[in-house]
Amino acid sequence: MSAPNKSYDPVEVEALKPEEIERLRDEALAAFEAAADLAALQEAKVAHTGDRSPLSLANREIGALPPQAKKEAGQRVGQARGAVNKALAERRAVLEAERDARVLTEEAVDVTLPFDRAPRGARHPLTTLSERLGDIFTAMGYAVAEGPEVEAEWLNFDALNMGPDHPARSTQDTFFLKDATGHSTDGVVLRTHTSGVQIRSMLAASEPPIYVICPGRVFRSDELDATHTPVFSQIELLAVDEGLTMADLKGTLDHMVVSLFGEGMKTRLRPNYFPFTEPSAEMDMVCFNCRGESVGNPDRPCRTCSSEGWIELGGCGMVNPRVLIACGIDPNRYSGFAFGFGIERLLMFRHNVEDMRDIVEGDVRFTLPFGMEI
Ligand code: PHE
Repeated sequence: MSAPNKSYDPVEVEALKPEEIERLRDEALAAFEAAADLAALQEAKVAHTGDRSPLSLANREIGALPPQAKKEAGQRVGQARGAVNKALAERRAVLEAERDARVLTEEAVDVTLPFDRAPRGARHPLTTLSERLGDIFTAMGYAVAEGPEVEAEWLNFDALNMGPDHPARSTQDTFFLKDATGHSTDGVVLRTHTSGVQIRSMLAASEPPIYVICPGRVFRSDELDATHTPVFSQIELLAVDEGLTMADLKGTLDHMVVSLFGEGMKTRLRPNYFPFTEPSAEMDMVCFNCRGESVGNPDRPCRTCSSEGWIELGGCGMVNPRVLIACGIDPNRYSGFAFGFGIERLLMFRHNVEDMRDIVEGDVRFTLPFGMEI
């Protein structure tokens, strides 16, 4: 603050000259006008109306003026500050209105927009088919048993009557495992079938009856092509009880194909060899497409069964007594039957899938037409 001004000379008080007050007012007005948003306006407000703003400082100078000059200077500064406050309020009103309008559009919720824009996928038909098979057998009283994909060799081979020197052991295209250092891990393989789960079920049960199905992924060192894949899905079934015969096996198979493909379907058995079953058979089912009518009928060829009337499904047989013994089950008291087949093949027949790779690749364009089937 300047010292009291005894000899009145308004020119001496620079800050209170009319041009200076006008300039400060105009500067403030311009600054408010230039503020593009409320934050900028707040800054301009502090700069032009705050305690340390030029106009406030000028106002303080009034006290130092001689009484005659006070009134005029007071009016001048008062008017200027009034104009500045009015401009500030007006600009704030404009900017607030702009902000409100923007918030209304930017944060608006359009309740008419579709709510399910995320494309929905579908369950893989291998899963749904395997579950459908599971339903058929659980309805007959079977339990679903699962086991590890990395399996003990003993469970995958030895217990199934495929000892270390058994020729069948080397025909299964087995993946052997190596540990992190690259050394082969003795005694564990990627399971080549889910039969190891059947062994686990027999070992776990204190006494038959045992009725289980074992679905799951299995591994064989095949190339991936239109009809082969190194990873595929199987479902195997095992029943061990008193008095079971091949008639029970045949009845169970027939029930399965009727449940899957409808009335009139049946299976047939052809002699075969498996180490773990005796007798063993290859199981075929009537071609669900031509129902056998293409056989000897050149006018009605069938691509599904190559006009043979039958489709090969998988292997089956009566559980070899040696397998029962390996699992601590008395073969003189109990007998069992088993079968197993690949689900990919069944899917290919059932839905006319021509290339195995479509099943493996997991492209949603393949799975979508099958739908959810929960
Ligand atoms: N485990 C056999 C395989 O994967 C299938 C099979 C199961 C055959 C049960 C007979 C009895 O090849």
